[in-house]
Amino acid sequence: MSKSIIITGSSSGVGLALGNFFQAKGYLVYGLSRSLPSNTNFKTIVTDITIKSEVKKAICQIEKETDSIDLLINNAARGMVGAIEDAREEEITDLFNLNLISVINMISEVLPIMRKNNTGKIINISSIGSKIGLPFRGIYSASKSSLDIVTEALRYELNNTNIQACTVNLGDVKTNIADSRIKSNVSTPYEIIFKKVYEGINQDVNNGFDPKILAPFLEKLLIQKSKLKPHYYFGSNIQKLSLFIQKVLPQKWFEKIITKYSGM
Ligand SMILES: NC(=O)c1ccc[n+]([C@@H]2O[C@H](COP(=O)([O-])OP(=O)(O)OC[C@H]3O[C@@H](n4cnc5c(N)ncnc54)[C@H](OP(=O)(O)O)[C@@H]3O)[C@@H](O)[C@H]2O)c1
Repeated sequence: MSKSIIITGSSSGVGLALGNFFQAKGYLVYGLSRSLPSNTNFKTIVTDITIKSEVKKAICQIEKETDSIDLLINNAARGMVGAIEDAREEEITDLFNLNLISVINMISEVLPIMRKNNTGKIINISSIGSKIGLPFRGIYSASKSSLDIVTEALRYELNNTNIQACTVNLGDVKTNIADSRIKSNVSTPYEIIFKKVYEGINQDVNNGFDPKILAPFLEKLLIQKSKLKPHYYFGSNIQKLSLFIQKVLPQKWFEKIITKYSGM
């Protein structure tokens, strides 16, 4: 019987590319997003994953139809840009609600079903930016580093099971993520520098990798790897190198590099 896989945020970008790939490979794919993707063959259950009752309903339907959930990719998220000083409480709450709390809710709903069969893999899509407090992306970075830490804790808690979890931390991917970013109001002290940095952020995304190339990498983790590591990094060499440099350089030198690289 084909393996069942749930992918959140499957209506565009990374999630859509993953859904199409796994469907073509014969997996039973269930995408969860608020809108329906066009021209796809995989099943989508229209779900706002920040609404607990909708998640419950969707998972219940999937369990009825498949009897098992083998794989879960928590991919749905939004970006957020703006100065820390300008971030409004509702914006921060909305971001954490989607990028962290809804992921935890997904895990809570899916784990009991995986536990019944004592097997399953969970991949939480994070960001290389989770490891670095990037200027004007501090809240987004914080939401993803929280996800990294939650994933690490979850791994210990699943020690006595055959269920595994990891994050895949992405570098820039060429998607329309910019369209749905939360953008805080930019106050006067930041106007000029924010404009410059923001242009760079968008340029990096436009020069990012094609989301299609991520899918075979994830399939390897889901199917071939018997023991998942806590974190995998998928991005350009320079982005992966930055994590190594961060570890070996004194913080003040690293900050100089990030300052220059960000266009500050
Ligand atoms: N693009 C990058 O450069 C980049 C870099 C590092 C990490 N990432 C991570 O990669 C993942 C995918 O991002 P992407 O670039 O593919 O972004 P994207 O194209 O904007 O896709 C985001 C997906 O999330 C879904 N979504 C948003 N809110 C939702 C909600 N409340 N309920 C259900 N689904 C919701 C959207 O669908 P609906 O609007 O239809 O609900 C959409 O399908 C994210 O975790 C992101 O943080 C991206």
